Amino acid sequence: MGCRVGQPSRHPIFMPMEHMNEQAFQHLMEASKIIEERSKVEPSDHRFTRVDGLSAEVETLEFLAAFIRRLKPETVIECGTYRGISSVYMGKALKKNNSGHLHTIERDLDSCQLARQRLLKNELSEWVTVLNGSTATVTLPTGPYGIIFHDASRKYDELRAEFERFTTRLENGGFAFIHDSTFYESDESCRVRENCADFAAQNGLVHMSIPSARGLEILHRP
Ligand SMILES: C[S@@+](CC[C@H](N)C(=O)[O-])C[C@H]1O[C@@H](n2cnc3c(N)ncnc32)[C@H](O)[C@@H]1O
Repeated sequence: MGCRVGQPSRHPIFMPMEHMNEQAFQHLMEASKIIEERSKVEPSDHRFTRVDGLSAEVETLEFLAAFIRRLKPETVIECGTYRGISSVYMGKALKKNNSGHLHTIERDLDSCQLARQRLLKNELSEWVTVLNGSTATVTLPTGPYGIIFHDASRKYDELRAEFERFTTRLENGGFAFIHDSTFYESDESCRVRENCADFAAQNGLVHMSIPSARGLEILHRP
């Protein structure tokens, strides 16, 4: 069911909302339910709990949600929504805080539609806005930002561009999290840890590496 991100498909689930009739909408709702079923958390190995191939692992999402609960940020940014699993975790934490808003960016329109459906189903549309576009160009509130979750590209230049656009606007006391920092270790075009360390040194930020199965970096503005 469905296709890989970026591949065209004629399945009604990938039809733009404005062209959707009642029957296509029902297909979409059905498909969302199947994805929900498939997304039920199941242990994959002893180091982390997998939801699906692309969404962040549950341990990292719980860690992020705890930060949102503790810091009570007004503005949270996420680069890379995919199907909205991480957005739901963060959105629930904001809803519990009864303050703040998550702006999440996704370039793939079909993923945006699935994420919006998931957020609607979880009654989180008021707390989370899904923006369809590239992290390089999408228009966002100017900041400052309390928490940023970088979970889109790990390519050195693309991640650096996100740092320049968003992480430079981290508020005092704010945190940026960079997911999957060791997952792409063998790819010479990424060097995520080195990228974080360089950026921190150049911008007066504190850099920490959390030992976790897929790697998580933290940038903090004291
Ligand atoms: C690992 S998935 C995100 C998973 C999601 N954060 C979660 O945990 O549920 C990465 C997503 O980032 C999107 N993406 C990659 N580069 C992007 C960019 N430059 N701008 C916007 N979205 C991007 C991809 O289309 C993909 O859906």
